[in-house]
Amino acid sequence: MKINLKVLTCFLLIFTVVVSCSEKKKESLVGENQIQQPINPNGDSELALLMRQMYDEAQLIKEQINKGEPIEINLNHEKILTAHATQPEKAASEEYRAFANLYLQSIKNLQSANANEVANIYDNMVVSCMTCHKVLCPGPMVKIKQLQ
Ligand code: HEC
Repeated sequence: MKINLKVLTCFLLIFTVVVSCSEKKKESLVGENQIQQPINPNGDSELALLMRQMYDEAQLIKEQINKGEPIEINLNHEKILTAHATQPEKAASEEYRAFANLYLQSIKNLQSANANEVANIYDNMVVSCMTCHKVLCPGPMVKIKQLQ
């Protein structure tokens, strides 16, 4: 009986991780008619929505750098520390906070970067996305690679 419960808990844990942190699985759910539907069957968490906005903003910044235009940072990135996550215990962990602070520092560096260094500092920012994802949420890494 005890063992069965353990196995069940493991199973549930693995399932939750797959649902909230696997970009591949989600993309397959976004069928032609479902593009406007929430991707997560339980509704998207505040953190998941923020992450998508961060992704979109990073993509714009990449384009601005490639065109030699000044970059624009408009999102409130500090929300990464408080936004509600699909797995709240993950975002409350010390690891998460350490990675989040590194990320926030890389955004500050980007804000104060001059034209000569902005491309390198942008690369470092994407690395800081990757570092957190590698440890806590590997699913979206394939997508984040596209920002490099
Ligand atoms: C401090 C850790 C951390 C950092 C830094 C981080 N992420 Fe995330 N990211 C997460 C976690 C945790 C989730 C799962 C969110 C949830 O489901 O609530 C996530 C989810 C995502 C998702 C999937 C969102 C969805 O649709 O469910 C994408 C895409 C993403 N992140 C991209 C990025 C990008 C791009 C950056 C950098 C600009 C970044 N992340 C920085 C931890 C991080």
